[in-house]
Amino acid sequence: MAKLAINGGTPVRSEPFAVWPQYTEEEAQAAADVVRGGWLVAHHGGPRHVEGFQEAYAEYHGAAHAIATSNGTTALHVALMAAGIGPADEVIVPPMTFLATASSVLMANAIPVFADIEPQTLGLDPEAVRARLTPRTKAMIVVHLNGFPADMDGLMAVADEHDLVVIEDCAHAHGAEHNGRKVGTIGDLGCFSFQHKKLLSLGEGGMVTTNSDELAERAAGLRTFSGLPLSYNLRMTGIHAAIGNIRLGRLDAENDQRRRNAAYLDERFSQLPGITPQQAHENSTVAYYNYVLHCSRAGFGVSHEKLQEALLAEGLPGAYGYSPLQRHVTFQMCDGYGRGCPFKCPFYTEITTPEQRPVYDEADTPVAVDMYDNVVVQFTIHPPNGEAEMKDIADIFEKVITNIDELR
Ligand SMILES: Cc1ncc(COP(=O)(O)O)c(C=O)c1O
Repeated sequence: MAKLAINGGTPVRSEPFAVWPQYTEEEAQAAADVVRGGWLVAHHGGPRHVEGFQEAYAEYHGAAHAIATSNGTTALHVALMAAGIGPADEVIVPPMTFLATASSVLMANAIPVFADIEPQTLGLDPEAVRARLTPRTKAMIVVHLNGFPADMDGLMAVADEHDLVVIEDCAHAHGAEHNGRKVGTIGDLGCFSFQHKKLLSLGEGGMVTTNSDELAERAAGLRTFSGLPLSYNLRMTGIHAAIGNIRLGRLDAENDQRRRNAAYLDERFSQLPGITPQQAHENSTVAYYNYVLHCSRAGFGVSHEKLQEALLAEGLPGAYGYSPLQRHVTFQMCDGYGRGCPFKCPFYTEITTPEQRPVYDEADTPVAVDMYDNVVVQFTIHPPNGEAEMKDIADIFEKVITNIDELR
């Protein structure tokens, strides 16, 4: 008789896990107070919710400045523009990330170039970055994927050698640290998202952090119609900032709970064959946006897809990973705006030969492709889920691995 739920057996867990995010009465009150006060916007006077959130965010990070934006994508756009990235510039990005990391480069009319990731944390590999450098490379966007700080020591060394701007995409990594510094303050600019599912969740919202007075001034101007040459309205609302200020105060305790959940799973998974919990670099503190497991490529003798289906059928809280961005239509078509821009921009074509322009081939980033297709399984471990829920998750893996023959 089948034991695995995918084959008709009883799932380990049929109750849903506690949802993330949950909002408190205090946050509902703060939002209502903004509405009652009649100042939903933050730039026509009234209470200083956005300024207050910016100040608190900068202080929490030990950053000189924080500039609030409408979302994480616009934070990246503002950061690139503030750093002076534009037509004919190349920006190195990882292929295993959310689309916005690379599409923000197109929004700045610059050219994204994919460099491979390192298998340990799934962040940019410094040597792969080095291999993709050209005289046109002006910046790299480092993603701290799933809350695991990327190899910032190696990446900053490459950036220093080649005078590159470093933008940290911290959309998954609020509160994560490397060498005692919060991510978002190690490179030139940090970009955060407060989108619904994020560790600091406000529905929508973003933030740019920097220690540079000059970059901060440019970012604030670009965000609020007062920068040059072209600036935008990419502002955060007072409601989001008022809620954000309260949730920021809870972030450390929530991240601590995630780390306790991860420690429980690390211990249970160490007793199971064929799976290895992803480990951070030395001197890094993870903020678990997702818990990440590396499965043995050949160990189970079943496809990675089948394994994940079996886990989901047992009740694992699913979290999708990112397929390599070369598979995305934007990069297959090499077109950001419907007419081939910015790839066909004369500023770019005049200084490059066709062979020098990027072809978005997944064969260029074999580690990212292999990790996505064959290795990584990830899922969320957000509070208020605690040890009882983590026990169910560990039991799910134990059951599937013990009965793996049923999948063969
Ligand atoms: C790695 C990464 N970068 C950037 C973004 C963009 O953030 P937003 O959705 O707030 O625009 C996201 C959002 O999911 C993300 O996961």
